[in-house]
Amino acid sequence: MAASSDRSDRFLRACRREPVDVTPIWFMRQAGRCLPEYRAVRERHGMFEIMANAELTAEVTRQPVDRLGVDAAILFSDIVLPLSAIGVDVEIKPGVGPVFADPFRTAADLERLRPLEPDTDMAPVLDAVRSLSADLPVPLIGFAGAPFTVASYFVEGGPSRDYAKTKSLMRAEPALWSALLDRLADLAIASLRAQVGAGAAAIQLFDSWAGALAPEDYRGRVMPASARIFAALTDLDVPRIHFGVGTGELLADFGAAGADVVGVDWRIPMDEARRRVGEGYALQGNLDPALCTAPWSVVETAAQDVLDRVGGAPGHVFNLGHGVLPETDPDVLTQLVDFVHANG
Ligand code: CP3
Repeated sequence: MAASSDRSDRFLRACRREPVDVTPIWFMRQAGRCLPEYRAVRERHGMFEIMANAELTAEVTRQPVDRLGVDAAILFSDIVLPLSAIGVDVEIKPGVGPVFADPFRTAADLERLRPLEPDTDMAPVLDAVRSLSADLPVPLIGFAGAPFTVASYFVEGGPSRDYAKTKSLMRAEPALWSALLDRLADLAIASLRAQVGAGAAAIQLFDSWAGALAPEDYRGRVMPASARIFAALTDLDVPRIHFGVGTGELLADFGAAGADVVGVDWRIPMDEARRRVGEGYALQGNLDPALCTAPWSVVETAAQDVLDRVGGAPGHVFNLGHGVLPETDPDVLTQLVDFVHANG
């Protein structure tokens, strides 16, 4: 392994499948409720209040970088921010997730989706990105929700177990469905391009719930909108990460959509993920987040297994298979970062 990389660039190098000094690691939902310093901010400020304030956004984005020693920061924001920024009424309920006052139902609802003008609609977010990318010791990851996952909240009105309304709309009204996904893709493109323009060094597209789809529906009715987002970012030359939960049957499609890095949840071991994704992509993952609540010996064994299955091949960003659970002890995460740096 080349010793030429360090904390400032090993994440980006691994995304590009270049040699690294040690395996880089960061955590989805690292800037969240498992950190007491985050909870302290949240006692005084609501989610949208934080996102509307560049200093607070920068503060909570930075907290896990300082405490955990991770190799990348992820912007503190939410996948529904672009919709909120163009005037769609959405709140984020603690312990629940995004909830829409008036869910998307008919063609008339398309009128509510005007284009995003990032410089005015999300100015504080972009100010935070500018100051963070100038000050952080590690690269900043910008992100957006993929059209399907955002649509699932917007159509259902909130979190869902079976996505019945969403899947029904998708099959019963294909023209309206693709118009909705197109508008949501446009929002994601505008937001992501602006984040990169302000200094984000990589982007992640969260299609968290795409694993709920039959592969045929994913390929025919969802993937084209996500692929358009990746294609619209090609000229920016930043690594593009594509992540979803329960996407074992979709992993090859997640790469083929135009990503450079494919996120893997814990249901598929990394060696099998590599077979499914093929060469030519970096992989990100995939320790089961639930195991991080177990005694350290359990975490260590599971982390070593992830590293063994990758086998030192270039192009591995260590992460959990999904977000950090709120009940996780942050000291376990710090220990995990040290372990991966020492053994990966
Ligand atoms: O550390 C980070 O990952 C950065 C910040 C971030 C948040 N949301 C902050 C947040 C990111 C990247 C997201 C993305 C997001 N939001 C996704 C995709 C990622 C994933 O986990 O699959 C999704 C599906 C959402 C929608 C959403 N927002 C959910 C499901 C929740 C959790 C609800 C809960 O309380 O259990 C939120 C709220 C949210 N977004 C929190 C945070 C830190 C917790 C809310 C709080 O502080 O009250």
